[in-house]
Amino acid sequence: MANLFAKKDLSALMKEASESDEHSLRRALGPINLLTLGIGAIIGAGIFVITGQAAAQFAGPAIVISFVLAGVACAFAGLCYAEFASMIPIAGSAYTYSYATLGELVAWIIGWDLILEYAFGAATVAVGWSGHFRAFLRDLGMGLPEMPTSNFTLFGMPVHLKYDYIGFLVIIAITAILVIGIKESANFTTAIVILKVAVVCMFIALATAFLYSHSWQPNHWTPFIPPNTGTRGEFGWSGILRGAGVVFFAYIGFDAVSTAAQEAKNPKRDMPFGILGSLVICTILYILVSGLLTRLVPYNQLNVPDPVVVGIRVAGQQWATFLVELGAIAGLATVMLVMLLGQSRVFYSMSRDGLLWPWACKIHPRFRTPYLSSIVVGVFVAILATLVPLSVLDEMTSVGTLLAFVLVSAGVWVMRRSHPEVNRPFKTPLVPLVPILAIVFSGLLIVSLSYWTQLRLIVWLVIGLIIYFSYGRKHSKVQALRSESMERKPTPTMAD
Ligand code: ALA
Repeated sequence: MANLFAKKDLSALMKEASESDEHSLRRALGPINLLTLGIGAIIGAGIFVITGQAAAQFAGPAIVISFVLAGVACAFAGLCYAEFASMIPIAGSAYTYSYATLGELVAWIIGWDLILEYAFGAATVAVGWSGHFRAFLRDLGMGLPEMPTSNFTLFGMPVHLKYDYIGFLVIIAITAILVIGIKESANFTTAIVILKVAVVCMFIALATAFLYSHSWQPNHWTPFIPPNTGTRGEFGWSGILRGAGVVFFAYIGFDAVSTAAQEAKNPKRDMPFGILGSLVICTILYILVSGLLTRLVPYNQLNVPDPVVVGIRVAGQQWATFLVELGAIAGLATVMLVMLLGQSRVFYSMSRDGLLWPWACKIHPRFRTPYLSSIVVGVFVAILATLVPLSVLDEMTSVGTLLAFVLVSAGVWVMRRSHPEVNRPFKTPLVPLVPILAIVFSGLLIVSLSYWTQLRLIVWLVIGLIIYFSYGRKHSKVQALRSESMERKPTPTMAD
């Protein structure tokens, strides 16, 4: 009988993390690489697309407060991630941490749940990227053919499908970069992150200069919190909370830094720097952008696919719209890259543990990357991006990430009690208060998402459990070790 709560041995994990042979990943990432990996994963569709829509539909100018709330939830969770990533610097992130602390079943649930964050997240951004790319080409007078569509009935329900072939192609192209190598991917990310941050700073500078020269007029901040319409989640304080659940998507990605722990040169020192540094920089940028945007443009005019471009136009800087579009296109590409990277590394770890099929941890002899896992993930995500609507993809990404935050934060607390002696290069302050606050804030954001999203999460977890009980449990290396050591123990006799 397998023990569903069997844990990975912590010292074995540490040993695995420090091993270096032809089956291990290459340690190529320094602190700046990790910081840019984080920013590369964070700034994307959230700020370039979703902010405007959330302000228009849920919170008005108070979207700034929504950003603060979501940022606080991420800060608490980020502190927990930083402790784990520096303590157990191994690929696999939240999945690996929970294997060592909460046991195999929870680890499986979290690994399966992370597919929602990384694979569905990459697909969401691919759809946003496709929209920006089309608009960009149209502005240059080079329109692309319309997406093919089909309408049919499935189990009596009408289905409308749009085949987003651009989303498909961009995911395949990024997958090819990832197969070639981590160092090359990190260099590509660094170059684009600089462009992306420059574009965001340019918006902040131009908007501030415009408002300053017009004595901070127009002022669309009155009222700052538009009154609730009578429906929960539409403006007022419930709208701010709903807005926080929606713009949470904009913060997703800082935790992806932790999936590259086994490829970091000095993970103990650099992991907390990469995770917390990228989170702090992005929080400041988001609060400034959302505040300036809603001050410049009436919030009810922001329900557009390119709200930052609208803001730049209002500031009278037509020339800069081209740069913003370019920054968004390049910026969303790095988000997809980090998410696909994170997903293939989680599969790599699960497969090394025997919970997934062995092909997923096969390393390419020349590139030293888990190439088969990258290719399978890439094809799966490309199909998702082609077929599934954006609204379903983005909420599934958020709910999956929030559940991972809850489990990781609980893990930090459990680990402090069960393994107080382990060396922690970075310590989450005020345990258990900070993990509890991370759990409460993440839980609140889960509740603020739609009922359908919560239901889909449950269905997704049930599918995962079926796979675990039919494959993972039987092939788990931890279970095999456990049975071996039980067999070695002498069988008790009657005399005993
Ligand atoms: N935070 C990432 C984005 O906004 C997922 O695109």
